[in-house]
Amino acid sequence: METSIDPSKIKKIAINTGGGDAPGLNAVIRAATLAALRQGWEVYGIRHGYRGLVDTKYLIQLTKDKVRGITHLGGTILGTANKGDPFSFPIENKDGGTDLIDISDKVMENFKRLKFDALITIGGDGSHRIAHRFIQKGMPIIGVPKTIDNDMIGTELTFGFDTAVTTATDAIDKLHSTAESHERVMVVELMGRYAGWLTLHSGLAGSAHAILIPEIPFDMEKVCEKIYSREAAGRHYSIIVCAEGAYPKGGHLITQDQEIIGRREPLLGGVAKYVEREVARITGKETRSIVLGHLQRGGSPSPFDRLLGLRFGAAAVKTLLEGKINVMVALQPPFVKTIPIEEVIKGMKAVPLDCDTIQTARDLGVSLGD
Ligand code: F6P
Repeated sequence: METSIDPSKIKKIAINTGGGDAPGLNAVIRAATLAALRQGWEVYGIRHGYRGLVDTKYLIQLTKDKVRGITHLGGTILGTANKGDPFSFPIENKDGGTDLIDISDKVMENFKRLKFDALITIGGDGSHRIAHRFIQKGMPIIGVPKTIDNDMIGTELTFGFDTAVTTATDAIDKLHSTAESHERVMVVELMGRYAGWLTLHSGLAGSAHAILIPEIPFDMEKVCEKIYSREAAGRHYSIIVCAEGAYPKGGHLITQDQEIIGRREPLLGGVAKYVEREVARITGKETRSIVLGHLQRGGSPSPFDRLLGLRFGAAAVKTLLEGKINVMVALQPPFVKTIPIEEVIKGMKAVPLDCDTIQTARDLGVSLGD
């Protein structure tokens, strides 16, 4: 396994996007492409995760024209996949079922046959795990951290997070007036899987009264104490935001029944419904719940995410020019630095319970359910 690359030998690189989309992906693609073209390299986009290296009709050459006017666009011009892991690739069998097949050697073969010198892979923890396995097989890779969950190790922030916080905050803002008019409790379920960043940040910015995150298993009696104290103070409505991965003390994660073959992670969902039922049962107050879902991944990236995406894209190429491979670019303010991909996949970045944002919530009297 190579640990460095001779930049003078680089002629052709590939870019792919994997996992759930996040606002800012196109900004990374644009900056990485333009920076690479500036070096005289050829650039190809692999469509739908690794599919373009399985079936080359899903490969597209990225030119200046192809990446023009995309910085402000949500989604990814390359398409993405969250059940296209080449080490466990879903393929339809003769009986109409699906088998999971390891096609990673074919991907490697095509990568070499097409004379790619390096891959820039833009993705979250799952994509970096796949990248790590390809690194073992000899593929030179630069990772770029993406996710609205902001749960990746080594980087202060991932692009997509800021836009998602803005979208979620906007939704919470809107729920205040309806909750107050009807004197109801509104429960909002947000994404973020096992990390509470999105819920904590948008919950605080949107003035939620209770914020439930996976890092702090909640006690419904405590959550309801907050509702009672607001009632006593003459405020007959409350807003509770919960991360999809939040769960009751002594309980477990709430998942959806749907099985998706080839998908590594369970589909989370249902905690807002649970909290809604419990609040209504304990307090007798009229309660409603809403799941914000994929709205949080959509829309035009915020200026912050556009800039972070552009910086990451340019930094990915700069890293190759420095001869470094098998690392992920990472925001370590005020710099974009790099961290070995093998470090990135060692775990996830949860909200530290002693961070000042948690303390801010407590100082504001927000219930964290504990
Ligand atoms: O990791 C990003 C994320 O948006 C999670 O917050 C969420 O649990 C998951 O993806 C949803 O994935 P899908 O698009 O498959 O429903």
